[in-house]
Amino acid sequence: VRIFVPNDATAIACGADKVARAIEAGLAARGIVANIVRNGSRGLFWLEPLVEVETPKGRVGYGPVKPSDVESLLAAGLVHGADHPLSVGLVEEIPFLKKQTRLTFARCGIIDPLSLEEYKAHGGYKGLAKAIEIGPSATVEQVFESGLRGRGGAGFPTGIKWRTVAAAPADQRYIVCNADEGDSGTFADRLIMEADPFCLIEGMTIAGLAVGATKGFVYCRSEYPLSLQVMEKAIAIARTAGLLGKNVAGSQYDFDLEMRMGAGAYVCGEETALLDSLEGKRGVVRAKPPLPAHKGLFGKPTVINNLISLATVPVILEKGGAFYRDFGMGRSRGTMPIQLAGNIKFGGIFETAFGIPLGELVYDIGGGTASGRPVRAVQAGGPLGAYLPVHQFDTPFDYEAFAAKDALIGHGGIVVFDDTVDMAHMARFAMEFCSHESCGKCTPCRIGSTRGVETLDKIIAGNRREANLAVLTDLCQTMKLGSLCALGGFTPYPVLSALTHFPEDFGATPKLPA
Ligand code: NAI
Ligand code: SF4
Repeated sequence: VRIFVPNDATAIACGADKVARAIEAGLAARGIVANIVRNGSRGLFWLEPLVEVETPKGRVGYGPVKPSDVESLLAAGLVHGADHPLSVGLVEEIPFLKKQTRLTFARCGIIDPLSLEEYKAHGGYKGLAKAIEIGPSATVEQVFESGLRGRGGAGFPTGIKWRTVAAAPADQRYIVCNADEGDSGTFADRLIMEADPFCLIEGMTIAGLAVGATKGFVYCRSEYPLSLQVMEKAIAIARTAGLLGKNVAGSQYDFDLEMRMGAGAYVCGEETALLDSLEGKRGVVRAKPPLPAHKGLFGKPTVINNLISLATVPVILEKGGAFYRDFGMGRSRGTMPIQLAGNIKFGGIFETAFGIPLGELVYDIGGGTASGRPVRAVQAGGPLGAYLPVHQFDTPFDYEAFAAKDALIGHGGIVVFDDTVDMAHMARFAMEFCSHESCGKCTPCRIGSTRGVETLDKIIAGNRREANLAVLTDLCQTMKLGSLCALGGFTPYPVLSALTHFPEDFGATPKLPA
């Protein structure tokens, strides 16, 4: 019998380690032999720790399980998948999971993250085998054909980025994975690293082969110590198996990679600040051009991609660019792991084809607010993303549809707020966040965000409200147009969207510039 207890940071924070120990002790006391597998999470976080048992019908789940529940679970016949008040039935049949299209996250929560055998048994390393078979330029073209766009938020076509790096003359090229997942309400990168690390390793190896890079770095945020541990173990296993290093998988290509940890600066998620940090400097944004594709890490042509972009490459190579391209809408092709967070009943990861309406995500999939109160707004795309009011919930999840509403999908995080939220304070938070995290290189962001906090304080206090609202909107325009990077340039989006859609919270009905 195999019993699965998740080993990702969310499940552990919810007590999974204690649950695993209690199950082990309970089984030993009953003389039952069972194999406790520490899988990654399926990303159904409201059910964590979600304990699963393999049965002839499929995997039966129980959740959320507390250590004190274990005795009654074992007494009821946990090892046979018996009924119990905590039973959620066959896990694959849970609507939240069943409605998904899992391409990038296909193995998450199913396999033991550090079992190369299980990874391979579930399609792993078929993508690399294909890349080796068809060679570098055909590999780049498969990625181009798939329509994959940068999952960090900018949505730049990954295939074009790879073409640029492959064509740049150089003695050394690099692959850099941006795993500095700093957006509020996002956890997709972490889940891949903790639940399916070989998927990222394979994706980066394919990228290396495709553009002629022999070295890769994963830049991981400091808040993810467990991700680091799992990734380092997986890298060592891959190396021992000949899947990293010289002549990867018996081919003529060499590729190896290393983990690097950030030090907690949000701006290091911006690609050029990340590269500075990786080079051992303080993370300060570089002016572009030159693009990292031409002059990136240590001045060499560098593919710097978001983790999800890289982790999606294996399935694209395995099943073909045309297969992946068939999902989605408009210019947003394939699937997106949407992360539902904040005040929501069913929080977790929902991978689906682009095009699903925002309201369906919040209500039908997410079940509305956890508090049971009416939804007032969602913030999509992290702390620099716009707030969308309920009347915009028909917006399809798509790069262009969101941009048309002055919003961004960013890294796919959706944070839900109920009707008790004070939007003037949320606007102030955006400015304060920017002032904390600004790298200080340019004036509109460094000075503007501090002036923005002061101005919002005056508005909130009712001090010359109309005049200060005019100052605030003017300041936002300056930050939008004059900032060097997205941190200063996008902070106005949450501020202005709060002001546009919820003017009553600012004590006035401001007239915004067109
Ligand atoms: P960008 O649009 O300047 O560039 C996107 C990517 O494409 C970069 O990697 C850039 O180097 C590359 N690129 C652009 N032109 C290229 C060319 N001709 N050849 C090869 N590569 C090329 O956007 P940037 O500054 O990297 O990111 C801004 C975006 O980030 C925003 O639009 C926003 O959606 C998103 N964002 C994401 C956040 C997150 O935490 N994930 C937070 C804030 C913003
Ligand atoms: Fe630095 Fe802010 Fe300017 Fe970006 S916008 S370069 S974070 S000061």
